[in-house]
Amino acid sequence: MTIHFSNTFLLRKLHQITGIVPLGVFFFVHMFTNSKAMNGDASFNKAVKEIHDIPYLLLIEIFGIFLPLLFHSIYGVIISSESKPNALSYGYGRNWFYVFQRATGIFLFVFILFHILNLRFGLIPGLNSIPVAGNADQAFAIVSREFQITWVLVLYILGILATAWHLAYGFFLFAVDWGIVIGEKAQKVTLTASIGLALLLSVVGINAAFAFVRPCGLMPKALCEEPKKSATSGGVKF
Ligand code: HEM
Repeated sequence: MTIHFSNTFLLRKLHQITGIVPLGVFFFVHMFTNSKAMNGDASFNKAVKEIHDIPYLLLIEIFGIFLPLLFHSIYGVIISSESKPNALSYGYGRNWFYVFQRATGIFLFVFILFHILNLRFGLIPGLNSIPVAGNADQAFAIVSREFQITWVLVLYILGILATAWHLAYGFFLFAVDWGIVIGEKAQKVTLTASIGLALLLSVVGINAAFAFVRPCGLMPKALCEEPKKSATSGGVKF
């Protein structure tokens, strides 16, 4: 008899719950913080500094982000490798969503690793070498310089789209699997709400990315404060 890891009830539930809390919650907070770039570098740098000033930050990051992320990603890859997508044979929307859920998960595994090495640690050869961690006063300038490189900006936009879909459809799967929405009609409404959430997160996330290359991002300037320059802006050496 073959034992499939994905059938292990407890691990499967843990995989679902780690996707919602803390990773889902983290993504909302992360996009909110990034959106502060709409008001200029001083506003974003202040937000990053406030995060760096949180007591026990390293422990919160290890147990609240990195370990859940590692478990969720590795177990997600195991589930994907054992799954049998049938979108091509049936072509129903839900089958395609199932394929996207796994494809975005695998892409995100690579993207998030790149992203953390790139911005948090400044360790991607040929890209910026200054970590945002420990350099909050240069955070905006570091990200802004990276996003001037077209392929980097495109990669981050794909990362945002993939995360928005993966998280929003993940909410739907969670609600169905945990018996929160049962009837067919309730499931349809929840699915529509999830697609709406994916669109909303995509717009907020992509706008935040553009805010590093253009004041207020893609939004009308009336929605933003007049950007104030931080004392150190423009002084970054890469
Ligand atoms: C507009 C696009 C994005 C920007 C500008 C951005 C910016 C940043 C920055 C500056 C850091 C380093 C924070 C620090 O060291 O204090 C960071 C960390 C991180 N980002 Fe992003 N990010 C973006 C998109 C994403 C996406 C799509 C994900 C996917 C879930 C993501 C997940 C993470 C994770 C897991 C960390 C590590 C958390 C930590 O260091 O505590 N980011 N991001």
